[in-house]
Amino acid sequence: MAEITEKIKRLKKEKNAVILAHCYQNPEIDEVADFVGDSLYLSRMAAQTDADIIVFAGVYFMAQTAKILSPDKKVLLPRKEAGCAMADMINLEQLRNFKAQYPGIPTVCYINSTAEVKSECDICCTSSNALQIVKSLNSDKVLFLPDQYLGKWVEAKLKNIEVITYDGCCPVHRNVLPDDVLKVKNLNPDAKILTHPECRKEVAALSDYVGSTTGIMKYAKESSAEAFIIATEKGVLDRLKRDCPNKKFIPVKDNLLCESMKCTRLEDIYDALNNEQYEITVEKTLSAKALSCIDKMLEVSK
Ligand code: 13P
Ligand code: SF4
Repeated sequence: MAEITEKIKRLKKEKNAVILAHCYQNPEIDEVADFVGDSLYLSRMAAQTDADIIVFAGVYFMAQTAKILSPDKKVLLPRKEAGCAMADMINLEQLRNFKAQYPGIPTVCYINSTAEVKSECDICCTSSNALQIVKSLNSDKVLFLPDQYLGKWVEAKLKNIEVITYDGCCPVHRNVLPDDVLKVKNLNPDAKILTHPECRKEVAALSDYVGSTTGIMKYAKESSAEAFIIATEKGVLDRLKRDCPNKKFIPVKDNLLCESMKCTRLEDIYDALNNEQYEITVEKTLSAKALSCIDKMLEVSK
């Protein structure tokens, strides 16, 4: 592993490349990553970098967002099959049908969506700024897609805004049931429950904290509590165990894994850099339209 890590580092230097990695990635990827974080942080890094090549250790919509934000850079996704099941739940036609049912209502799309979908929405959001973005629209009704659970969590938090949701979801987070949380909590009554907002709203309602992947990690690190039940993909739990060996982290259920996030290996990163594969391209007009949706988000949540 040390050998391939060194080879990747050498290639990065030679090609003036950066590696962005999502928190759910396999731990060995951290050894070569320049930036590790949640979707918002990685979008910001993609927009700011002066590297010539961005290798995105994550899923397709993240690499596509990076390409839209940095159209002059070469953006590479090491595994071309690394998609996001939630992003695939809505296409342009489905979006248009959804919007047609509610004319005149502003539309917020979660960053877990395609460029086509972003190109016809008013503003984008991530799990870490969804409340702020919805509020910024100053509307008593908003359309929210594709994630019904994030949308309904926002509605529950903001109280006076009706959030009309599309019926998409993340199959990984939907798998967490309120009963799973209660069972683990019964065995660990002092543990705080930390949850990603892609979980069901009944799960969010049982939680001490709901937030993005880095939000969960920050909360656990800063909290004086000693035990935490983690309701998100296993990558976050593994990171916390490594970073805070004196605290106890308990999975809300076993094997909460996003296969798309976990399919990228160091060998794939090496091949990506060496062969400059798999390059993400976004057609210019589409890219410009999707950029406006992402830029508005970055402007609101500076
Ligand atoms: P974050 O923005 O919280 O990292 O979430 C991205 C994601 O896909 C979670 O499933
Ligand atoms: Fe998509 Fe869910 Fe995987 Fe996140 S965990 S990338 S939302 S499928």
